[in-house]
Amino acid sequence: MIITVDGPAGAGKSTIAKLLAEKLNFLYVDTGAMYRALTLKAENQNMDYADIPGLVKMAEKTKITLEKSKSCKTIVFLDGFDVSDAIREPIITNAVYKIARIAEIRQIMVSWQRDYGKKHSIVMEGRDIGTVVFPQAEKKFYLDASAQIRAKRRMLELKEKGIDISREELITQIEERDHKDKTRKCGPLKIADDAIYIDSSDLDISEVVTTMLKYLKDKHEK
Ligand code: CDP
Repeated sequence: MIITVDGPAGAGKSTIAKLLAEKLNFLYVDTGAMYRALTLKAENQNMDYADIPGLVKMAEKTKITLEKSKSCKTIVFLDGFDVSDAIREPIITNAVYKIARIAEIRQIMVSWQRDYGKKHSIVMEGRDIGTVVFPQAEKKFYLDASAQIRAKRRMLELKEKGIDISREELITQIEERDHKDKTRKCGPLKIADDAIYIDSSDLDISEVVTTMLKYLKDKHEK
């Protein structure tokens, strides 16, 4: 079974998709981590983001794997190295759109992502999972929240990591990233026609997971 969770930055997708996967005993797949890992490689290699053939060649020679740690954290390996923390650095967050907008790179990512669905029952989160990667998925969710709330959540997350950034600055960054994600030609963020839309602005994590589980149960009973 394939469950997709799409939505903008900071809507709570990662936490919620991970919890949902744990409850169902499905594999959780964070596709944003894959785009982030490739961006990290491009940064490390000082790649020119205008050199599309060079970036595609780099992507073809890359191995990204996601593993679950004992404490249920996702460990991201880039060519065998653990890059779980490095890919969350603001420099990567701000550069990832330059990789995510390249159609040929998205094609490579989509084929890796589809491979997960061939072998496992999965909860996969991202931007284009219900629309492009698995349009035939059994259940699709689109998780949203206001930009103000998403910025507040992101601010707390960053604070825990010792990164101080004002809420106003984060709202601007989030809105810019939303715009880039929604307007790119290939694999833009949009709500699949058959997705269940959940606004998590006024819901806590467990309320969102409960809502999702209820929808899943309803589907089975129909
Ligand atoms: O954690 P956060 O919500 O900030 O973002 P993420 O899920 O880690 O994704 C980082 C970036 O990767 C997004 O802003 C998208 O530009 C890109 N992305 C994408 O293009 N397609 C996906 N399926 C997942 C992420």
